[in-house]
Amino acid sequence: MHIEQIRLENFRGYARLQWQPDPLINIITGGNAQGKTNLLEAIFFGFTGHSFRTIRDREMIRWGSSFCRVEINFRFGQQENSTAILLTAEGKKQNKRNANTGRAMDPVLLPLVFTPDHLLMIKGSPVIRRRWLDQELGPLQPGYLAYFRRYQQVLAQRNRLLQGMRVNQRTRQELEPWNQQLAAFGAKVIAWRCRLLAELSPIVREIYGQIGGRGEKAGLLYLSSLPLERTTGETEICERFMGELSRRYAEEIARGQTLIGPHRDDLGTTINGQDARRFGSQGQQRTLVLALKLAQLELGRRFAGDYPVVLLDDVFSELDQNRRAQLIEHIRGKTQVFVTTSQSAGIDLASLSGRIITVREHVLHEGG
Ligand SMILES: Nc1ncnc2c1ncn2[C@@H]1O[C@H](COP(=O)(O)OP(=O)(O)OP(=O)(O)O)[C@@H](O)[C@H]1O
Ligand SMILES: [Mg+2]
Repeated sequence: MHIEQIRLENFRGYARLQWQPDPLINIITGGNAQGKTNLLEAIFFGFTGHSFRTIRDREMIRWGSSFCRVEINFRFGQQENSTAILLTAEGKKQNKRNANTGRAMDPVLLPLVFTPDHLLMIKGSPVIRRRWLDQELGPLQPGYLAYFRRYQQVLAQRNRLLQGMRVNQRTRQELEPWNQQLAAFGAKVIAWRCRLLAELSPIVREIYGQIGGRGEKAGLLYLSSLPLERTTGETEICERFMGELSRRYAEEIARGQTLIGPHRDDLGTTINGQDARRFGSQGQQRTLVLALKLAQLELGRRFAGDYPVVLLDDVFSELDQNRRAQLIEHIRGKTQVFVTTSQSAGIDLASLSGRIITVREHVLHEGG
């Protein structure tokens, strides 16, 4: 898909803007605080109805204004589409999709966004990686979210019971039905995640190889809190889960919580066989996160038949000239991309062959 026209009114520093971006590569440059990230945020807001950098909607309304508006005309397949969002200072939000009020956007059309914060996918806590697997990739697999939610419910109830058992004597039998449910839903979640990684791994490896150079090989691992070795069959996972619950019974009672299961698992990443988190350079880690996100894009396309637009905020700064060029080449022709880079980074943008747009005080100028 690609955006044909964007119109903004009172969005952050943009009093008014009407812009027809390039259908393929848009490189948005300019000094600090000129409105580069604000422009990506406006596009994201136009499609999703929220920001990727704040949970306080009102911050997006231009200071001194009572509302902001984002309107986007885009093409998806052969179809002309439009989306419009109006947000008022009182917090009222109205969205229109192809002139129908109140229609939410189809999830497959939501832009893929990448900001410097995404480095946390490598460096941050396992919660971030689990959230990516479950909440961003999960919806691509029909039925998965239902099992995932059931697991979360059983887990919460079992934890409550364990806490209760710490203070008043109850029998081990009371825990038994919860163990069975936990293991059954947990095994489904784990088996699904393993299948997903098996599908994702070759894509990540290929994209990483393309952007980072053939000499480097990226890998993904499912790091489970259960002793799974190479087990990925659901029944077997379920049996091991039950066995492990019984082995760690005393410890769980003492701690008052469930110590094993998919809620304690993690996604490991490697570069040339070494743990990327501990040994990867800043540029390697960034390349790896890009590869993960671009693999997500690829899975989304298999699922939905087309790519959404891609928003890359400040990704160039830690990539060398070769990686920057390869990144652009990877996306070129697949979908439309908007990539920001501050002028101070001193990057030779002309060599990347995309349309260059300079932002100065929230006004766009063609060229570098
Ligand atoms: N609600 C608002 N109303 C008016 N101006 C705003 C509003 N919110 C932010 N701004 C302005 O936008 C500026 C930040 O713009 P933006 O984040 O797009 O910068 P940038 O070009 O991406 O810079 P950098 O290179 O530092 O990332 C702020 O300095 C502020 O002046
Ligand atoms: Mg910025």
